[in-house]
Amino acid sequence: MTVDPEEMARLIFLRRAFLAGDVSPWRDEADLAAYDTWVAPRHGWRWRAILEELRARRVLPPLRTVLDYGCGTGIAGRSVGAVLGPVTRHVVDRSKLAVDFTVKRGALPWDGQAVDALVVGHVLPELKDPSALLALAATVPVVLWVEPGDARTSRALVAVREALRATHTPVGPCTHAGPCPLADARDWCHHIAQPPPEIRADPRWQAMARTVGIDLRAAPFSWLALVRGGTVDSGISRILGRPRSEKGRTLYDVCSDEGHRVATHRWRDGASRHPAPPGRYLIGWSGDRVGTMTPVIQPTTPRVEPSEA
Ligand SMILES: C[S@@+](CC[C@H](N)C(=O)[O-])C[C@H]1O[C@@H](n2cnc3c(N)ncnc32)[C@H](O)[C@@H]1O
Repeated sequence: MTVDPEEMARLIFLRRAFLAGDVSPWRDEADLAAYDTWVAPRHGWRWRAILEELRARRVLPPLRTVLDYGCGTGIAGRSVGAVLGPVTRHVVDRSKLAVDFTVKRGALPWDGQAVDALVVGHVLPELKDPSALLALAATVPVVLWVEPGDARTSRALVAVREALRATHTPVGPCTHAGPCPLADARDWCHHIAQPPPEIRADPRWQAMARTVGIDLRAAPFSWLALVRGGTVDSGISRILGRPRSEKGRTLYDVCSDEGHRVATHRWRDGASRHPAPPGRYLIGWSGDRVGTMTPVIQPTTPRVEPSEA
């Protein structure tokens, strides 16, 4: 099974540019089309993961209009529409090529009108100074933000959280509205989205991943959901990152209003090694032991959202 070499060359160029910190590296519409086919779906898996959780927890007000900031090919706004129901998608991007690409596919250019939600995806590493975006976010009722799962970007997102706590309540991934216990920690807040099984089994996706150097097994990410006047769930913890198995026990990094800790699940005597498999789990908390694992949200298998072209 082959993939289009020209498309792969574009992906390699874009990947190098993003990793080098280049801002808006789009050269033409074909760059955006290649990204929309092979990169945006990975972002969509992350978006679907958080949006399904937020929908199940009923922590968001109804959203009719969203502003997709740094829209690229528009996957963030499209994901909101796919999971939460139809929304009018306004877009803004430093690149006119990106705005034109999304407008051709049903979005509207943003001209400053009020919106129900601001959605930001994979933009923070490109922002030299996020203060203008933070000032905008402070005026919008709901802020939904997804970024890569590396330590540096996750910490930058924690700084966003701390700035916006003045106007909003964090409703995810946080289980509390106090200062982030990971702000100064060695660990960082990150989560894992699982690609759909059919993608992992698809020879074209495997060929793309090999050619471009992408790990298709999981998509680590960091995220933030803030609601003006929102309420937090209490008495639950969030599992961060991947559980670690050791002899006879599994260790979970968890975050709750009691801070960031390691919870231990002992699995001798035939108990399941992973009562909470990797994914986004909120669990009952019991000292430093994992007591009853009561997933508030079952992990789901996200689907790839086709472009609305
Ligand atoms: C890595 S792409 C992400 C695109 C899309 N949000 C996604 O998740 O796939 C980052 C986008 O942010 C845009 N961008 C970078 N700096 C920006 C700024 N200061 N204002 C608006 N858009 C910006 C870039 O042009 C690019 O389209």
